[in-house]
Amino acid sequence: MASTTRASSAPPSYAAHVNTLVSRYTEAMHHCGYKAILLAAGEQLPMFLDDQYYPHRPNPHFLQWLPLFDTPDAWIICLKGQRPRIIILSPASFWHADPELPDDSYLQHFDVEVHTDARMVDAVLSKLPRKTAIIDPADSSKYANQAKLLNFLHFHRSIKTDYEIDCIRRATGIAVPAHKAAKEVFLEGGSGFDIHLAFLKAAGCSEHELPYPDIIACNENAATLHYERRTHEINPASLLIDAGTSMNGYASDITRTYSNNDEFAALITSVDALQLELCRNIRPGISFGDAQNDAHLGIARILKEHQLVDMAPVAMIEQSITPVFFPHGLGHMLGLQVHDMGGHMADITGKRATPPKAHPKLRMSRMLEAGMVLTIEPGLYFIPTLLDELRKKPSSTRVNWALVETFSKFGGIRIEDNLVITKSGAENLTRDAFTKYSPT
Ligand code: GLY
Ligand code: MN
Ligand code: MN
Repeated sequence: MASTTRASSAPPSYAAHVNTLVSRYTEAMHHCGYKAILLAAGEQLPMFLDDQYYPHRPNPHFLQWLPLFDTPDAWIICLKGQRPRIIILSPASFWHADPELPDDSYLQHFDVEVHTDARMVDAVLSKLPRKTAIIDPADSSKYANQAKLLNFLHFHRSIKTDYEIDCIRRATGIAVPAHKAAKEVFLEGGSGFDIHLAFLKAAGCSEHELPYPDIIACNENAATLHYERRTHEINPASLLIDAGTSMNGYASDITRTYSNNDEFAALITSVDALQLELCRNIRPGISFGDAQNDAHLGIARILKEHQLVDMAPVAMIEQSITPVFFPHGLGHMLGLQVHDMGGHMADITGKRATPPKAHPKLRMSRMLEAGMVLTIEPGLYFIPTLLDELRKKPSSTRVNWALVETFSKFGGIRIEDNLVITKSGAENLTRDAFTKYSPT
């Protein structure tokens, strides 16, 4: 395999994973009244008026079965009672490399056909039963991507198989040493661009293999939650780095914040301690909305303790002061997509588990269950537009604006870990990896 982000042979848990998918897809066919399900790898989007294409990102439903990344011309066919089939179109070409197939440890679970002629693929696909469901990003017809089937699959996708957890654990094992390399470059005075390159080099992958564009936010840029530009100013005083890597298409999503300013570093330490406390409370049976409320109370305590806002923490919540400093959700599901599907689903019908009224932006409103993987990512930011709104409110008199101005030079703080919910609590994949990859 050409990249660190793909396991060259299938992890031991892969066979059981394929069996789970075969059972799940069979049940989905019963539930939705289909005889077959066709998954297309996706499409290659052309650039306007150009003969180049945007990088191909496979359909996550396809990727769940098989880590095949570099061709949109691939399909998986599930027919009731039969082994799943993989169809790949690979015409002879001296312009482009052939698709790189996973090895036999993966392919042994499928019937595999590689065709050089598109007409052969058309012949196979045209013989599928009339009641075949299609999941294909490139198919906008009303027959494809039916909500009933997608809801069923998305709901079940939120409970990970052992293979999926293993992939996320491995993705964490690549990202954490890369975070450490990036931190070293920050401490040496490197620019955002230098830090970005250090992360990629240590991760051993190219930018478009990352599960999401890495956020390298130096100084006040950390106030932009998804800051994706590369900056060239050296010696930044602070760094918020939100960067993950993938393994077989499964993401890690990790954030750390560093500063060489003592006062801001003390604020980072407080957010880090809050994040750990929130992680310790994560277990099956709790509602994520409650965890979000706990996070706001924690942020209110930090604002008071660091003399940013002179008000009792509960009053800060009542007066909606904490969302000014912490305007995003506490976390989200993680898996094949960095913001994985299913966070708001109450059941397989797609009924919505609505987020709490106070936190409409929460990406996750379900009760927690063993086997879910999610992020816990509290933050504390100094965002000019939100602070301007706060300035107009009566509670503005309780804000230490001089200190807010000092900290605004550093933009903000986010600490983000990835947790697997276990039967009795949660395993913190990220913290475990930071300990494991510490220099001794
Ligand atoms: N990296 C995007 C997020 O943390 O949600
Ligand atoms: Mn995240
Ligand atoms: Mn993140």
